[in-house]
Amino acid sequence: HAKKRNILPFINERLSPDIIELLRDIGRAGDEMGLDLFVVGGFVRDLMLYRKSDDIDIVVEGDGIAFAKHLAVMKQGRCNTHREFCTAVVILPCGFKIDVASSRLEYYKAPAALPTVEMSSIKLDLFRRDFTINTLAIRLNQEGFGTLIDFFGGQRDIKDKSIRIIHNLSFVEDPTRVFRAIKFANRFNFTIGKLTSNLIKNAIRIDFFKNLSGLRVFSELKQILEEENPISAIELLNEYHLDKVIHPGLILDSSVISLMESVKKALAWHDLLYLDIQYARWAVYFMVMIRRCPVKVIDEICNKFRLPPRQKNMVLRDRIRADDRLYLLEKSLPCKNSGLYHILSIFKTEQILYMIATAKKEEARKAISFYYTQLKDVTPLIRGKDLLTMGIKPGPAYRDIMQKVLDARLDGLVDTLEDELEYVNMINQNRYPH
Ligand code: CTP
Repeated sequence: HAKKRNILPFINERLSPDIIELLRDIGRAGDEMGLDLFVVGGFVRDLMLYRKSDDIDIVVEGDGIAFAKHLAVMKQGRCNTHREFCTAVVILPCGFKIDVASSRLEYYKAPAALPTVEMSSIKLDLFRRDFTINTLAIRLNQEGFGTLIDFFGGQRDIKDKSIRIIHNLSFVEDPTRVFRAIKFANRFNFTIGKLTSNLIKNAIRIDFFKNLSGLRVFSELKQILEEENPISAIELLNEYHLDKVIHPGLILDSSVISLMESVKKALAWHDLLYLDIQYARWAVYFMVMIRRCPVKVIDEICNKFRLPPRQKNMVLRDRIRADDRLYLLEKSLPCKNSGLYHILSIFKTEQILYMIATAKKEEARKAISFYYTQLKDVTPLIRGKDLLTMGIKPGPAYRDIMQKVLDARLDGLVDTLEDELEYVNMINQNRYPH
């Protein structure tokens, strides 16, 4: 039987009035259609953990699609439906999304070996999920609004800081859950329960992953690498030998892990200075993960993961270039700003952070951060039209002149537009002496 408890005081204390009002509206919409409904999964887990959650997942005991349409009209939003899965997404005018799923018994094809008889449809829906911490539900109907429903010991496991599967076939049903166990353990600083841990080892030993698409493995790995602090997840991947599941040639040993610590520092440095610059965090960690593999192995990993060409180029071709240029830079230091600029200007944020993380010399690390903060966006003040006014014939020479002016600016030889014009005059005279 489910443990039930009124958590309205919790809700009022921890959620914003807007979200509470939205949850109440969802409950009212359910009452209007005579449907029982619950907010479930990550939202409830995060509420119990005092963490902010961006998603609302609703389970409706009945036709979720009809309910979603009703809610969309009520809230003047839009509704996208997925008939095949009996799910829908309601998009509110402000852009906020609410996922709606149906939990009608007849929708479920329970895995053969699972005992599913005599379960209410909400219980069966929750039973099919990955870990106990994700099985908590809160009733939203007006009668009983704010009742926490716990069928599978989710509250106990949140208290124990434990990741536990609900039934022993969980990883058979979906082997990607092995990666999810690691993601959650890392994110919440939880431990993986003994039985769950043994089942993970078993899944790896029997190779449940052999039929899993590379795309799904990559999606899970990427989510792990996008976490705020993925290092202990990488340690767990290593402990469980999941690196070999990703590719037999991949090694996630302590030297990779310590480089990942450097990546973490580089990303923290970047994000403190440039909160609004978006880049692929996962890719910086990923480049460090694979850097010691032979090109053939990296190529196979990228193909297995079906990385689009742009991403494959980023982690393979451009990453090798970054290694080469870092080597060059460490040999040429100290160098002029223009020299630094020419070594580094071909790289995007991901490679720059990769180089900062992998640089052997502190001096190189400093030079790269100096380039990124001070030099990267420097441009000359003069334009093509200024060169035209000076009587210089348009053509390939323009690029050359602009490059020289940029170098002069980087090296502090010019300051104002007049300085630049004078500088152009000088190089032009040298080029075409009278
Ligand atoms: N789920 C599952 N097995 C999976 C993926 C998901 O059982 N392989 C279930 C989980 O119980 C989860 C729900 O589906 O609660 C939704 O999954 P997801 O969108 O990944 O949400 P969250 O658990 O909220 O994860 P996150 O906080 O990373 O978004």
